[in-house]
Amino acid sequence: MHYISYQDKTPSKVLELFQRAEQIKALLHEGKSLSSLSGRIIATVFFEPSTRTRFSFESAVYRLGGQVITSENGKVTGSTSKGESIEDTIRMLNCYADAIVMRHPDIEAPSSAIQVSDIPVINAGNGSGEHPTQALLDAYTVREKFGSFEGLTIGVVGDLKHGRTVHSTIPLLLQLGVSRVFAIAPQELQFDQTILLDPRVHPIESWDEVLPELDVLYMTRIQQERFETKERYEKFKGRYILGLKEVSLMKQESIILHPLPRVNEISPEVDNDQRAWYFRQAQYGLYVRMALLESLLSNV
Ligand code: NCD
Repeated sequence: MHYISYQDKTPSKVLELFQRAEQIKALLHEGKSLSSLSGRIIATVFFEPSTRTRFSFESAVYRLGGQVITSENGKVTGSTSKGESIEDTIRMLNCYADAIVMRHPDIEAPSSAIQVSDIPVINAGNGSGEHPTQALLDAYTVREKFGSFEGLTIGVVGDLKHGRTVHSTIPLLLQLGVSRVFAIAPQELQFDQTILLDPRVHPIESWDEVLPELDVLYMTRIQQERFETKERYEKFKGRYILGLKEVSLMKQESIILHPLPRVNEISPEVDNDQRAWYFRQAQYGLYVRMALLESLLSNV
């Protein structure tokens, strides 16, 4: 009933969810309103910054006829600032809401939360751990473009060590059947062994030779907030910058994704290229989160 890791849904459940997201997308385009969350209250508690994830979840709840109670700056305005434990905060939210969407800097926060929660907990990002709902919308976007996952080559670029989106998205794409992943990063920012163990994943540092082979280029930002010093961050910032020159090496039928926010890793001039799918990807997050909320709340 919770969704704190990409592993919490089997590939067939993920595909079911995508079918529902597809229906929801069509219904919204026809101007229909939905009411499957009518009378339900969802708590969104964010202890780290967010734009897309929180707004798209809140929009998803309202578009399903539910209502939201929110703490967008939980670290400062919530009782954890007075020393309250995550478990106690979750117990309290159980008194007031029907589901909890939580972002927290502590990797362990979602597992602590589900120990004490009788209502669904959705992980909206736990430190550099995971971001499983981002993985769902990323995979949904890939499926929208290509129809299936078999035979696809993915290039994932940037801070693969600290970036939580890639810790969920890449294993999910592998589970759904993609053929090859080029993990493009400086050695210090490479994935850990668990992901590299998959024989389909190839760690490399330079992207020049592989750009023409990619179906999906998944860009990420260097996660400044996870570095101990500014100097160390500066060392990696600017290492991979996608401009028109790099894009011109890519297949016409490929797509460029990014969980956003971007800093400097994709030049704005790329935005007008037909392969730039990152804003569309963010839009799809609404439909996928609506489908996820429905699936978690339909039998509680
Ligand atoms: C990401 C995150 O918070 O992990 N943003 C998002 O939710 N779309 C990516 C990032 O911050 O780099």
